Amino acid sequence: MWDRFLRACRREPVDRTPVWFMRQAGRYMPEYRALRERYGILEIIKTPELAVEVTRQPLRAFDLDAAIIFADILPLLEGMGLRLEFAYGEGPVIHNPVRGAEDIDALADPPIEESVGYTLDAIRLMRAEIDGRTPLIGFSGAPFTLASYAIEGGASRNFTRTKGLMLEQPAAWHRLMSKLADRVGRYVAAQAHAGAQAVQLFDSWVGTLSPDDYRTFALPYTRHAIGLAAETGVPVIHFATDTGGMLEDFASVGGDVVGLDWRMDLDRGWERVGERFAVQGNLDPVALLAPWEILRTRADAVLVRAGGRRGHIFNLGHGILPGTPVDNVKRLAEYVHLATATAVAVHPDGSSN
Ligand code: CP3
Repeated sequence: MWDRFLRACRREPVDRTPVWFMRQAGRYMPEYRALRERYGILEIIKTPELAVEVTRQPLRAFDLDAAIIFADILPLLEGMGLRLEFAYGEGPVIHNPVRGAEDIDALADPPIEESVGYTLDAIRLMRAEIDGRTPLIGFSGAPFTLASYAIEGGASRNFTRTKGLMLEQPAAWHRLMSKLADRVGRYVAAQAHAGAQAVQLFDSWVGTLSPDDYRTFALPYTRHAIGLAAETGVPVIHFATDTGGMLEDFASVGGDVVGLDWRMDLDRGWERVGERFAVQGNLDPVALLAPWEILRTRADAVLVRAGGRRGHIFNLGHGILPGTPVDNVKRLAEYVHLATATAVAVHPDGSSN
């Protein structure tokens, strides 16, 4: 069943639990590292043939039910006038971060096709190649997570500058978030039009907000972006980490699939978001570093909590970590399929039910 991932997004019955992994392409794979010796990450992302090649790498190596286009959440900010750089093995750097109202008013808003057209081209190429065999996922950062990079200028532990702007200059914050929400929404819609069969919004760092601040300063903007994505008709996956304190609000934003991290029980999380959602997750990525027997018990624990319910998509609670043994990823994908295969009885006459 080539489309079990898409069926699960819509909570339709499937023959096995679909499985894919956030950050399934990347440094833990030797073939990715080999390519990275010759090209920078932005070079790969901006060259559709290379982006497609990296998108393919995990599909060749593992039994996966979805491809995710190789890109990153940050190049979308370049078109707005921010200067982005990735140093190998280090976090991203934005050389001219947004620090106040003037910076926000100066942000550009070029057409999506003009600023990140290379990712749309990569989607078109990849879709043509795997059409009818593996569904293709597009993605974007959600407005809050993008704002945090734009303001901090890189990774952050406490998000002091981001929250500082939010609390002290709320009007400027809301202007920034409106701009981002609209760009994010148009970007994922453009990806769907280019051929992405589902889109995921990564709001990786939004769990740093208090529930009140989430509702006031982030939720309306993600809702706007998801609304634009949903108009295309493709399933929308809404993922973040650390959402335990605000899960009901998080789910109220919309979309079809809620991505849960490992800090909560999958069944209890599912009860809180409600049966109308499919749920993606939620194995601790660190479990993939453990010996197979230990990893298998953790995978079983996720599957037991999913309880064979319609709409479970097996994934990690966050991206695959560098240093993850490739063989564990391979065995895990196979194992999820094996462990969830619907029992089919074969009768003596060779027919099955
Ligand atoms: O899942 C996939 O296979 C698609 C590829 C993908 C990348 N980035 C490629 C990448 C995806 C889905 C992302 C999303 C992304 N990027 C997020 C959201 C998901 C998450 O993990 O929370 C975030 C926060 C970023 C920003 C980003 N990009 C950071 C913080 C870093 C550096 C840290 C790191 O993991 O290396 C990147 C670089 C990056 N993006 C790499 C890859 C494969 C590794 C860098 C390299 O090759 O040098």
